[in-house]
Parts: sequence; C-alpha cells; structure tokens
Amino acid sequence: MAGTDKKQATWGGRFREGPSPLMARFSESVSFDRELARFDIQGSTAHAKMLAHVGLISHEDRDAIVQGLAAVLCDIEAGRFEWKEELEDVHMNIEQALSVKVPAAARLHTARSRNDQVATDMRLYLRDACMQIMAYVEALIAVLVDFADANKDTLVPGYTHLQRAQPVSVAHHFLAYVEMFARDRQRFAQVFEEVNVCPLGSGAIAGSTLPIDREFVARELGFVDAEGKPRFTQNSMDAVADRDGFIDFAHACALCGVHMSRVAEDMILWNSAEFGFILLPDAYTTGSSLMPQKKNPDSMELVRGKSARLQGNLHSLYAMVKGLPLTYNRDLQEDKPPVFDSMRQTAACLQVLAAALKGAKMSPARCASAVADPLLLATDLADYLVKKGVPFRKAHHIVGALVAMAEDMALPLDKLPDAEVLALDPALGSDWREVFDLKRAIAARERPGMPGSAQVAERIKYWRSRAK
Ligand code: ARG
Repeated sequence: MAGTDKKQATWGGRFREGPSPLMARFSESVSFDRELARFDIQGSTAHAKMLAHVGLISHEDRDAIVQGLAAVLCDIEAGRFEWKEELEDVHMNIEQALSVKVPAAARLHTARSRNDQVATDMRLYLRDACMQIMAYVEALIAVLVDFADANKDTLVPGYTHLQRAQPVSVAHHFLAYVEMFARDRQRFAQVFEEVNVCPLGSGAIAGSTLPIDREFVARELGFVDAEGKPRFTQNSMDAVADRDGFIDFAHACALCGVHMSRVAEDMILWNSAEFGFILLPDAYTTGSSLMPQKKNPDSMELVRGKSARLQGNLHSLYAMVKGLPLTYNRDLQEDKPPVFDSMRQTAACLQVLAAALKGAKMSPARCASAVADPLLLATDLADYLVKKGVPFRKAHHIVGALVAMAEDMALPLDKLPDAEVLALDPALGSDWREVFDLKRAIAARERPGMPGSAQVAERIKYWRSRAK
C-alpha cells in the first residue's frame, strides 16, 4: 500500500510521502499510551519551565505553554480531546493539540526527544502505580489481619502435601498471607525508589548541545532523594534504553499475583463441600446457568487465573528487551501494554480479594471436626517421647508403629488400648493420651513465629501498629 500525500506533522520533513494507512495503523500507540497523558503533560510542563529557566525560551512562551498544556489536560479529562491515530502516540497528539492553542508549542521539544520523554512519562507512571498498588496491598493486609483477629480461637488442620499435618489457628494461617503481602508492599516501595530518577535531558541518545539544567527538571518532577536532592540518570544511552523499572514493576506484580493465587487456591479448597471451612459471600461467587444448586468461587478462580497473565506480562518484557542493541528501538513501544495490564489486573485482584475475604465467614463446626483428627498430634506424641529421653528418630519410629496399629485396629490414634500402647516402649507412660489435647498442643508452641495464641496476638498487634 502506497504512502499518503499527507506528511507526518512532526518528523515528516525528509519524507516525500506520508506513511501508508497500513503502516500508520501498525505503528500507532496512541490507542494505549494515551494512558500516559497526564504524566506526559506533567513532564512537558516541567521541561518548559526548565527551558525558560536557562533562557532557551522566553517567560511569555513558558507561560503560554504551561497554560496551554493545562487546557489540553482539561480537554482530555473532560473527554473532549480528539485522539488522532495518524499522530502515532500520546506525545505527538498532545504536542500537536498544544500547537493549535499556542504558537510557542513549536519551541517545547527543544533539547528533548520522544526517547527521553517516554522514559520520563513511564517513570512518573510507575511511581504513581507503585503508590496505588501499595495502598491496595495495605487495604488487603488490614482485611487479613481483621480476619485473623476475628478467628483467633478457631483451629484448623495445617496441611503439607495437602495432607493433614499439624493443628494451627485460622489466625496463624491468615497471618502467613500477611507476611507475603508485607513483602510485596516492600517490593513496590523498592520499585518506586528505583524508578525515582529523572531521565529527561538524555535526548534521543546523546543528550543535547543546548545548555539545559537537568537538576532543575528533576527537582520540578519530584525526582529527589530523602534529603530533597535531585536524582537524574548518569548515562544518556542507558537512560533511553533501560526498561529495568518496567520489569521490576511487572515482577512485583507477578509475585504479588502468585501470593494472591495461593490465597485464592486455599479459599477455593476451604469453600468446597469437602472442606467446608469457609463460606464465601454471595456477592463474590456466581451461579451456574445449568445447575441450580451451584455457588462457584469465581472471584478466587479469576484471581488465580489472572496471576498467570501477570507472569505472561513479565515474560513479554523480558523477551522484548533481551536482544536489543543499544539504545532505543521501536520494539520498546510494545513495553507499555504489559505494564499497564499488570497495573490494572493487580489492582483489581487486590481489591476483589480484600472485598471477598471481608465478607467471608468461617464454619467453626466443620473446622472443629477436621482438627479433631488425633493424627494431627502424632508429632506431639513423638516430642513427648523425646522429653522422656528417647532419641527423635526412635520416637518417630515408635509413633509410626502406633499409627500403623491404629490403622490395623481401625481405631483413632488416641483410642488405642493402653495395654497395647504401653507394651510398645517403656518411655510410653499412662499419661500418653494427654498429648491429644488441642489447647495444650497450641499452648506448647509459644516461641517466635509459632502458632501459640500469645505469639499470634503479638503478631496481630504488630501488624495493626504498622498500619497506623
Ligand atoms: N511511541 C514511542 C514509544 O512508546 C515513543 C518513542 C518514539 N521514539 C522514536 N524514536 N520513534 O516507544
């Protein structure tokens, strides 16, 4: 398909014809990068102020540009803005719209390239995204801590290999998730730190011959350290080629997604008739079009499913950057959809998970009957023998023999006849059955990180104080 007569408005000078309609459609990014509009305007506003500060444009031109950009933002926010595919991307759409309002717009792109411009926009976007996600993570943590607190006294079997292992409180189980999400929060804070460095002034690849002030623009955009000192990139080639912050953000989302998926999987199991430990709220479940009785945990299944998508986004970014020669290559335009998608899906999953868990109710009777399984305390019986001086390996063996005996006699472990039990080893005394007391078992686990009630209460207190 031949090119059009209409030359490209910003870079068309050296071309005899415009891009073919096929190429224009293929190369546009405005359909998705318009998401960056407010950051692009923020960046351009700071850039115009810097240009005036160093005398590259007049103060009148600066004021006209700054006001014009504010008016463009108003149009965009009011839905009045007409996005044009033939202008390729968000940057050129905004610059073009500005030029209709103010002639000084023609001076805005002085000492700047779309390469450092888009890198700046994305760092502003990622800073904002990290702040938003951190707030959603904190809200989810608050729900989990409340849930733990409300169910401190309910015990459930803890599982390894999805086989009943040892008793824990629901609170201890939910606080395990809190630990994961607190690490996620920290990870997003680190991504914020990493991207909080200004690339503006790197130009297309080699900076600019014009007397720009990189510190000024960095400060203007809030790219500063804890002491307020401006932070800006130190190599213009790296600055326009670097997508590490995107990958780190996508990784933080993917890992947070994995954590959410593990919670979701537990909830799907717990909500099943087979477990019956928890009841998910109607508002976060759906029915079947065919089977009238069904109440499906779709919210949790979608969280689990979307976590795969978050991993896919991370992988796309890795694959995209891997073989690129320095510096900017147009491949990098494809870096935005995965980042935007990770942001949106992570935010959505965090909100849905928090809301669904807020409305969930434990079923204490079902938990009590599952946790009454005496096999859950087989390890405690081995510990009982250790306290009587039996080496652990031997104690393990003795209890194993008792478990086999219980299986053979079709009796619960704690209902084996004394005569048979005591005959097995002299270390087994008439008090052996006292081990099978859940309260005692939990109370015996009061060292740091264990499920003892005092430990758990301490941890709840800790998380509540962190939230303030
Ligand atoms: N839309 C482009 C992107 O997102 C902006 C940078 C374009 N730079 C260029 N040299 N064509 O990557």
